[in-house]
This record gives sequence, structure tokens and C-alpha cells, in this order.
Amino acid sequence: MSRGQAPGKVLLVGEHAVVYGHPALAAAIPRQVTVEVEPAPAPALELPGGLSVPAELLQAAVELAREAGFEAGFRARVASEIPLGSGLGSSAALGVALARAFAPGCGPERAAALAMRLERVLHGAPSGVDPAACSQSGVIFFVRGEPPLVEPVRGGASLCILGSGIARGTRSTVLPLAERRRSDPRLDRALEKLGDLSRTARRLFEEGRLDPLGALFDEAHGLLRDPLGVSCPELESAVAALRSAGALGAKLTGAGGGGAAIGLARDQAHARELATRTGGFAVRIGSA
Ligand code: MEV
Repeated sequence: MSRGQAPGKVLLVGEHAVVYGHPALAAAIPRQVTVEVEPAPAPALELPGGLSVPAELLQAAVELAREAGFEAGFRARVASEIPLGSGLGSSAALGVALARAFAPGCGPERAAALAMRLERVLHGAPSGVDPAACSQSGVIFFVRGEPPLVEPVRGGASLCILGSGIARGTRSTVLPLAERRRSDPRLDRALEKLGDLSRTARRLFEEGRLDPLGALFDEAHGLLRDPLGVSCPELESAVAALRSAGALGAKLTGAGGGGAAIGLARDQAHARELATRTGGFAVRIGSA
């Protein structure tokens, strides 16, 4: 039997913009997806809670296994500390964990490239940022490409993550945004601005300048809400709850339309306080 594990992720800044070639800042979170693989006569994927496995997901897992050099049939059992559809990278972490189970010892670039098999099936038009974040530890600065640019970012921060209560796939906002972009020129300007914010956020993060970083989170959320239109009432409530609980700034994270919001905290004690006040949970990203 072989085992693979990978963390979930949050997008700190630059979600959606990264699909169009702008940079994003993303971080692994200390919540794991674990896969145990054993040889079996036919391929089978067992999701947590007995969730049904769409045929195309199983097919993508089979292709990933073949590409990793695993020729036999398999039974892959998945356990997850990340709720599926929560916007915290469960599908990318599943892809990276499968890659590590099928190709033990593979490095982060190879694991992320293999995980793209699943991403393409589940996402429609993935930039690659999610598997890159789930295959690295810490915080990364990412620009899509063949190969992508993935730079480690120094420093650490504490966040409170608050779910919106709505589980939705990345496809549900990425593809409609691509459609609206054709007729609304404001959207490209907003995406470009988000890319600029990712560059600034990287500098602020590395310098440990949390107050301006929090304000930048607020600005990024404003653009994601309007004109990009990827927020929803439940995410607006989550962002408002984090802000009124005392977060330095808050925004939706990932594709939006549901999923989760993140609030920036001063330190881990503050993140725990935000978690108690909002019902979210505290995480440390990057260095301790
Ligand atoms: C999802 O975590 C991030 C998006 O930018 C999609 C992607 O980059 O693949 C919304």
C-alpha cells in the first residue's frame, strides 16, 4: 500500500486574475487530504462519507496514475480534513495526494503537474495555482505558464477562515466570468489591478506589514465583488463578520460564489479570538 498527503490552500490575493496571466499569492493551510492506494483488479476511488465519484473524476485519476507510471488497477481511499467544495483546495490537494501515492518521492513540480489532470476535469480553465500551492509548503507567488513561475515567499501570518456555508465548484464562477469579460471592458482592468495588488501584497507580507496588508485584502475583496461579481450574500456576511470581529482586513478566498472568506489577524492569539467570535477556525500560514 502507498500513501500520499497534501494540504489545502487559500488564495491570499489574485484569484481569477491568475487565470488571465496576472500573479497571485497563495498559501498551503495545515489541513490535509490523505490518500491510501492499494493494487486492485479495477480502478476505484472512495471519497469521504461515501460521496459518489463522477465518472470523469475516476477517469482523470486513472490517467494521473498512468502518467505517474502506475500501470495496475487500484483502490484509492480518500480521507480529508477539508470539507469538499469549501473553497480550500480539496480537489487540488486530492490531486497532489494521489500524485504522491502513485509516484512516491516525486517533487512538488511533478506532483502539481500530475494534479492538473484532476484540475482540468473539475475546474474547466484552471491556472494551476491551486495544485502549486498544495504541493509546496508555505506561501507562494505564482504566475501561470508552461512551466509556471512559482516563487517561495518569506514570512508568515495568521488567518481566520470562515466558511460561507455554500459549497460550490470553481467552474461555477470561472466560466461565467470568462463569458462576461467579452462584453465588459471594466473586468480586464479589475483583473489587472488584482495582479498589481498581488505584487504589493507579496512585499507587505515579506516585510510583515500587517495593517496595510489587511487594507489590501479589503480592496481586493471590493474588486472581486464589483465589478467581477464573484461574491454572494453568504460570502458578504462572512466578510462582514470577520471585519466586525476585528480582522485587519477580510476577503473571499478562491473562486467565490460560496466557499470561504479569510480575515487577517495580528497573530495566532488574535486569529483564535476571531475564530471564537465568528465560528471560523484559525490557521498559521508560512513560517511559524
Ligand atoms: C481558485 O482557487 C482560483 C481561481 O483563480 C481559479 C484558478 O486559478 O484556477 C478562481
